[in-house]
Amino acid sequence: MRNKVTIVGAGNVGASCAQRIVEAGLADVALVDIVEGLPQGKALDLAEAAPIVGVDCRVSGTNDYAETAGSDIIVVTSGLARQPGMSRDDLLLKNAGIVRAVVEQAAPLSPGAILIVVTNPLDAMCQVALDASGFPAERVIGMAGVLDSARFRAFIAMELGVSVASTSAFVLGGHGDAMVPLPRLSSVGGVPLTAVMDAARIERLVERTRNGGAEVVALLKSGSAYYAPAASVYRMVDAILGDRHEILPCSVLVRGEYGIDGVFLGVPVRLGRQGIEQIVEIELTADEQGALRASASAVRELVAKLVPAAAPA
Ligand code: NAI
Ligand code: 2OP
Repeated sequence: MRNKVTIVGAGNVGASCAQRIVEAGLADVALVDIVEGLPQGKALDLAEAAPIVGVDCRVSGTNDYAETAGSDIIVVTSGLARQPGMSRDDLLLKNAGIVRAVVEQAAPLSPGAILIVVTNPLDAMCQVALDASGFPAERVIGMAGVLDSARFRAFIAMELGVSVASTSAFVLGGHGDAMVPLPRLSSVGGVPLTAVMDAARIERLVERTRNGGAEVVALLKSGSAYYAPAASVYRMVDAILGDRHEILPCSVLVRGEYGIDGVFLGVPVRLGRQGIEQIVEIELTADEQGALRASASAVRELVAKLVPAAAPA
């Protein structure tokens, strides 16, 4: 039997994810949106591309959660996207209500599924999804670190004129202004970044990574990034369905790891068919640890603001 992935939100990120998953032949996809006709139209369009691409995965579009039953993975992209001048945090209360409603409908129909949350502000929305689903924390995972690390890698490659394949990067922490790019653990051709670039150049790339989402928003004028976000979700879905035991930076509930407890935060995790198999602890310097703690505090502040708004009526 083929794997089944539900994607809630048939907007830019959701539809792009559906395209990647279906065209790779990775899974059947149920695309859900609150807007009538939107998921149906996009699903039909994708189904009509299948003969050209040469895949047999089924893709359906629906406004009814019944069609999502029995999913292996539920990707939550529903919500509002950032507009120019709007911070991720401005989205907090509105998107908390949307994520809670969506997860409350989807989770009972796929009780064994793994939830991948994309909606912003990401780490706080993971907490909402955890509460609304009742799933164990090992099956609630936020997408951000894969994207932020990819942005850092892209900027390193552009700066040095090398292949992206020769770069590696780690970005930890929350998906917000306090995210924690780690140049010491990033490398070019296996050589630490700190050995190939001076501090000022590295700081410029770090800052560009922190502003990566806002840079795209400012250029697009309407809406936010979706190609790289969709590719990031795809990578996580592939790691899970393929039971790859792949180590990727994801937002997960840390429970004492890195000396931080009870908050969703981007850290390296090993992903497999059961979800999060392990949180990988890397030894951090005092400065890096301090930055991670500050990032955790920023997420905690958001979660504290959303508790009343996200509570069930
Ligand atoms: P979009 O506006 O293109 O799509 C959002 C879709 O959600 C729309 O089609 C809308 O009709 C749907 N929706 C709204 N309420 C719903 C509900 N109650 N039930 C079902 N569907 C509903 O936005 P886009 O660009 O796809 O972004 C989606 C979210 O992902 C935003 O919150 C954005 O900030 C976030 N995002 C997060 C990233 C990350 O790194 N975690 C990266 C990129 C986007
Ligand atoms: C991004 O980083 C908007 O969070 C989204 O592109």
